[in-house]
Amino acid sequence: MNDHKLPKIVVLTGAGISAESGIRTFRDSDGLWEEHNILDVATPEAWKRNSALVTRFYNARRVQLLSVKPNAAHLALTRLQEFFDVKIVTQNVDDLHERAGNSNVLHLHGELIKARSEKSQERIYDIGYREIEIGEQSDDGSLLRPHIVWFGEDVPMIVTASKWVTEAEILIVIGTSLNVYPAAGLLYHSPYGCEKFLVDPNDLQVDNLFRLRHIKTKAGEGVPALVDELIQRFYPQTV
Ligand code: OAD
Repeated sequence: MNDHKLPKIVVLTGAGISAESGIRTFRDSDGLWEEHNILDVATPEAWKRNSALVTRFYNARRVQLLSVKPNAAHLALTRLQEFFDVKIVTQNVDDLHERAGNSNVLHLHGELIKARSEKSQERIYDIGYREIEIGEQSDDGSLLRPHIVWFGEDVPMIVTASKWVTEAEILIVIGTSLNVYPAAGLLYHSPYGCEKFLVDPNDLQVDNLFRLRHIKTKAGEGVPALVDELIQRFYPQTV
């Protein structure tokens, strides 16, 4: 294979890429936010009001990770990385990209398998799939909280993510309703001439605005097909 990897591809993923693995999305009709109020479980105020409820909510999400596995879409991205310079920006807090072998994964909204001090954003711990105990403390004596970026909090990783997108030659958006900023704003950073794809079985308002080529299928079908198409286009001798 040619050592010269072309082109630079940025992949922006949301809950839809993990849906076929059995993890619920947020805003679909059976989504998590149908059953839980965002204000009760995903804000700093909720944490202050009832940290036990918030801890249990994320404990349940974390434990669920043990029973799911990456699907064909995650695995296709690993294949894409064999041929191209690929960077993945995910809004997902699961670890399915990593478990599929994806590298260069940036988690905009945090990670379930990590916890952090409620006082310090830098004091982060790998906790794997175990539960955080109610009242469990960090080394600095403050409460240990899920390493999740809640609504109303800063998204420190957005700086790196924006830089990646400004350098993208191809942008692939998979399974996100693009309702949450600043993640949704990343599309505005894509350079002129960047080829853009969207893999999502449903219509999204942004299609026309950003001239995305909409592959209107589930990720498990659409992503492997798109990956094959790109490899064939840039490395015709391979496929
Ligand atoms: P949403 O639940 O808002 O959107 C999920 C998207 O996935 C929708 O556009 C669906 O059409 C699409 N979808 C559903 N099944 C799919 C499949 N099998 N293949 C491909 N696409 C599919 O989830 P996000 O956009 O990821 O943040 O939500 C963004 C953020 O809002 C999350 O990171 C989370 C949430 O509140 C925090 O909790 C901080």
